[in-house]
Amino acid sequence: MEIWTRIQSLLLLASAFLFCATLAAPSDSPRDADAGQSGYVGGDHNVDPATASQFQHLWNASFLPDEKHWARPLVHTLKSSGRQIVFTASTENYVRTFDAVTGEKINERQILPPWPMGAAYCTAQVSQNLGIMGTPIIDVENEVVYLYVKSYNEDIRIPGGASPPLNAQYYFYVIYIETLWDLYYFPLLIDDIPADNDPRKIFMGGLVLQRPALTQIGSVVYAGFGGLCDAFNYTGAIVTVDMSTKYINVWVTQGGPASPWTADWSAWHGGGAAGIWQAGLGLSSDGKDVYFNIDNGAGSTEVNGSTTPVSGKTHIDGLSETAVRVTFNQSTGVQLLDWFRPYDWQTDAGQDIGSGGVGILDPTVFTTDAVKRLAVITSSNPRMYVQDLDNLGGYRQGANGTDGVLQTIPLAGEVFGGIGSYPHEGGYIYVNPGNTGLQAYKFTPSANASALFSFAGKASNSNALWGGAGVPTVTSRNGEAGSGVVWITDPNRGLLAYRAVPQNGSLVEIKLPKVEGAGKFSRPVFGDGRVYVIDGQGRLVALGVK
Ligand SMILES: *[C@@H]1O[C@H](CO)[C@@H](O)[C@H](O)[C@H]1NC(C)=O
Ligand SMILES: *[C@@H]1O[C@H](CO)[C@@H](O)[C@H](O)[C@H]1NC(C)=O
Ligand SMILES: *[C@@H]1O[C@H](CO)[C@@H](O)[C@H](O)[C@H]1NC(C)=O
Ligand SMILES: *[C@@H]1O[C@H](CO)[C@@H](O)[C@H](O)[C@H]1NC(C)=O
Ligand SMILES: *[C@@H]1O[C@H](CO)[C@@H](O)[C@H](O)[C@H]1NC(C)=O
Ligand SMILES: *[C@@H]1O[C@H](CO)[C@@H](O)[C@H](O)[C@H]1NC(C)=O
Ligand SMILES: *[C@@H]1O[C@H](CO)[C@@H](O)[C@H](O)[C@H]1NC(C)=O
Repeated sequence: MEIWTRIQSLLLLASAFLFCATLAAPSDSPRDADAGQSGYVGGDHNVDPATASQFQHLWNASFLPDEKHWARPLVHTLKSSGRQIVFTASTENYVRTFDAVTGEKINERQILPPWPMGAAYCTAQVSQNLGIMGTPIIDVENEVVYLYVKSYNEDIRIPGGASPPLNAQYYFYVIYIETLWDLYYFPLLIDDIPADNDPRKIFMGGLVLQRPALTQIGSVVYAGFGGLCDAFNYTGAIVTVDMSTKYINVWVTQGGPASPWTADWSAWHGGGAAGIWQAGLGLSSDGKDVYFNIDNGAGSTEVNGSTTPVSGKTHIDGLSETAVRVTFNQSTGVQLLDWFRPYDWQTDAGQDIGSGGVGILDPTVFTTDAVKRLAVITSSNPRMYVQDLDNLGGYRQGANGTDGVLQTIPLAGEVFGGIGSYPHEGGYIYVNPGNTGLQAYKFTPSANASALFSFAGKASNSNALWGGAGVPTVTSRNGEAGSGVVWITDPNRGLLAYRAVPQNGSLVEIKLPKVEGAGKFSRPVFGDGRVYVIDGQGRLVALGVK
């Protein structure tokens, strides 16, 4: 029986595991926003300004006292029953599913004990224990969830030491969304793996943090890693798991003999740092390559110690304060294709590009005669960079050693996470910098590339915090004019909604029922006519029309 089950599972794995980009039910949310991180989650969620203004509290779910949900909820419609469910994953390593309509808890599982993270000295900012933090991703074809789970093995490297960082480890789990059971062959322990581009740099889960939402392209699942409150000798990394071969590849942001390395795991920035965190935003994908921002680290002041301009197509080993494009190839692992480093990060003042990410705009709308695909890069340097996705801009490639980008938009605050966009009614982008309000910019496919986006409106209310404001997420009803809504979270004011098209320079607010605060850097998640958000009390709250 046991053996037969195993054979069945293997057959299932071999034959039924298809990696086509089959669409989810149109009202589902299988990942953090959209694959490109344009922040537009489509026209199929059955919400518009009229329905949003009738929203009421539908249900809420409470969790354990120390439990935090940094990972955003996900929404999936089960093929077996047609029931829409909400999936959550927490720092206590609990995964749960709820009925999307009623809030009834369907399944719950604590995957592994989390790591008591006192040694990283940031339990107040993060959580008492560290388990799942990055937003998982649902493989909708196979109805499984991919996720990184942090746990610890108390004797693995420091015998008798229950919870030092060296005994903490990451596992890559694949669980069925319907049952929350493991897929046969998984989890994979992701530990003691040398980086392809620098074998000295051994991946050790206790020294890093899986923070950005996961990305899937075909059979390959990408995860970004950065520092855990900047402690230890970490180097930023991308880990790929190829589900078709089960191969694990590790690529580090600072690789090669010239990059820093130390065997002293406790040495601050000893591995060159340059983490990938993006305030939790997902790594962006165009269906082929992956794009993300890298935080500060060794060599962040100039490229190879020089202010000489360098093309983004030139290979560099030390990628800090850089937005990059990488690709995965089964024989070589992850490889760098293109990059951009702003010219004015000369001082390491802490205004890092690592807080933001890359928003790939809908190329059917946001395009010009000269540039096919546009991207908007956010950062905590208070500006947005509008770029050609196929030519990110290298270093000092602009006039007189300035940035080789299409347009630089100055902002009144720092951005944590990415942008929102609305590919209808001419096209708009939205940004929500700290200490100021949500802002909209209108797209004009003008011949003058430096004026593609112009200021179109601002919300009257402002974020009270410099960091923590949520990421704009945009819905519409089938793209109909007037149906666009921009949603943001605010740690104090909860969930807020605005009409997507500004009126006379203002973003017009749509009144929602009060949500009591929100998690930092958060964003709402959509189902069929309903919106889900983790509130400031740590509850999962559902709003919709009763
Ligand atoms: C949360 O749900 C409980 C019932 O489970 C209800 O009494 C309470 O009012 C709800 N809170 C909000 C903010 O809707
Ligand atoms: C950090 O220290 C550990 C333990 O000696 C070592 O295996 C690893 O390669 C180091 N990592 C970096 C990035 O320097
Ligand atoms: C930077 O230095 C490394 C190591 O010396 C070298 O391999 C690389 O070609 C240099 N890159 C640039 C852009 O000069
Ligand atoms: C992988 O990359 C190598 C080196 O760039 C190249 O020679 C090879 O053709 C690539 N393989 C695939 C399948 O793209
Ligand atoms: C570049 O610098 C020169 C000399 O300072 C100046 O005359 C010129 O206007 C600058 N060009 C631009 C595009 O800023
Ligand atoms: C393009 O737009 C910028 C910003 O509005 C302006 O400074 C510049 O003069 C324009 N260039 C041309 C050729 O119109
Ligand atoms: C915008 O301005 C026009 C003309 O002044 C006015 O008719 C309209 O009511 C204004 N709309 C809003 C939403 O304030």
